[in-house]
Amino acid sequence: MSGIPEGAHEADDQPACSGPRGGGYSPAATPESSWRRWAVVMENVPIARDTYRLRLAEPSIASAIRPGQFLMVRPGPEGASDPLLGRPFALYDVVLDGAGVPAAVDIVYLVIGRGTSALASRRPGERLSVWGPLGNGFGPPPGGEGGVIFVAGGIGQTPFLALGRSWMGRQAYGGERTDPPLPASPVMLYGVRNAGLLAGVDDFRAAGITVEIATDDGSAGHHGFVTGLLGRRLERGEQPSRVIGCGPAPMLAALTRLTARYRVSCEVSLENHMACGFGACFSCVAPILQSDGSTDLRRVCVEGPVFPAEAVDWSGISGH
Ligand SMILES: Cc1cc2nc3c(=O)[nH]c(=O)nc-3n(C[C@H](O)[C@H](O)[C@H](O)COP(=O)(O)OP(=O)(O)OC[C@H]3O[C@@H](n4cnc5c(N)ncnc54)[C@H](O)[C@@H]3O)c2cc1C
Ligand code: FES
Repeated sequence: MSGIPEGAHEADDQPACSGPRGGGYSPAATPESSWRRWAVVMENVPIARDTYRLRLAEPSIASAIRPGQFLMVRPGPEGASDPLLGRPFALYDVVLDGAGVPAAVDIVYLVIGRGTSALASRRPGERLSVWGPLGNGFGPPPGGEGGVIFVAGGIGQTPFLALGRSWMGRQAYGGERTDPPLPASPVMLYGVRNAGLLAGVDDFRAAGITVEIATDDGSAGHHGFVTGLLGRRLERGEQPSRVIGCGPAPMLAALTRLTARYRVSCEVSLENHMACGFGACFSCVAPILQSDGSTDLRRVCVEGPVFPAEAVDWSGISGH
């Protein structure tokens, strides 16, 4: 999986990233803002089936990170060498202290394998090795009259809490508050396999984001894929200013085709496997279409994870 030795860049407060960041989309984190640190676990609590919210006390990352950026977290306890590779997780939200100063970051994760299982065993007071902020993140909100629709599949809802709060002007991220804020609250269409996996719905609603649910098995909301919820809106003539998707690749491929059919601007946040998170190993590459029609492999960790949907070559991926 990795082209770099596991455990590289292990020293406290050493730059976890060097060299220029890739780009062409929204600006990526600067090398200076990406540092490996020890973060103290404040909370690690279940919020849905196999799903946890981890709160890490890390004021410097909390002050710098913007919606759509991510952290690499080594899931093992301090001193353990297994698992050695970090795992990428999107910013869920930034937690402010009593004086309104960014103090901690929340991530929400689904347990699927060795790394996330190890993470679920971490307890308050333990320290975890983390590095970030990483990736380009989302840009400013779109102008125009139409609304903004987030389309989340599986654990793909996680980047949309901070993004919604940012674009509504509710909270500053990376020291900047969105001005002017979105004129209307965003809508999040949220699809999971079954109702037990719905995670954080109350957080989104409390933030003022309208949530519509789809489940594959019909146990909550629309019975079917989340793209069906969007399709119904577009068929009715709704013209959003932007749709943003995050979730499994087949869902994003389907979303790209659907929004292209209705000529709606769409961005996607990719969740490719990653080993280093800062551009050194090429384990995270995605096929990105170039202006001359060719396809080039680009590192999702530095040039993404957010891309215009039509820039991604989905030809190898069947969507539903
Ligand atoms: C930018 C970014 C942001 C992310 N944000 C979140 C988040 O907020 N919350 C969250 O729960 N997850 C998020 N992920 C995915 C998360 O990083 C993986 O689920 C995690 O690395 C799995 O680690 P593991 O050791 O538990 O699984 P592993 O043991 O590494 O893998 C278990 C199984 O899952 C498959 N798998 C692992 N990772 C992925 C993946 N990325 N895509 C598809 N299949 C995979 C493996 O092939 C294997 O079959 C994000 C990924 C990226 C790139
Ligand atoms: S994860 Fe190493 S280059 Fe992207």
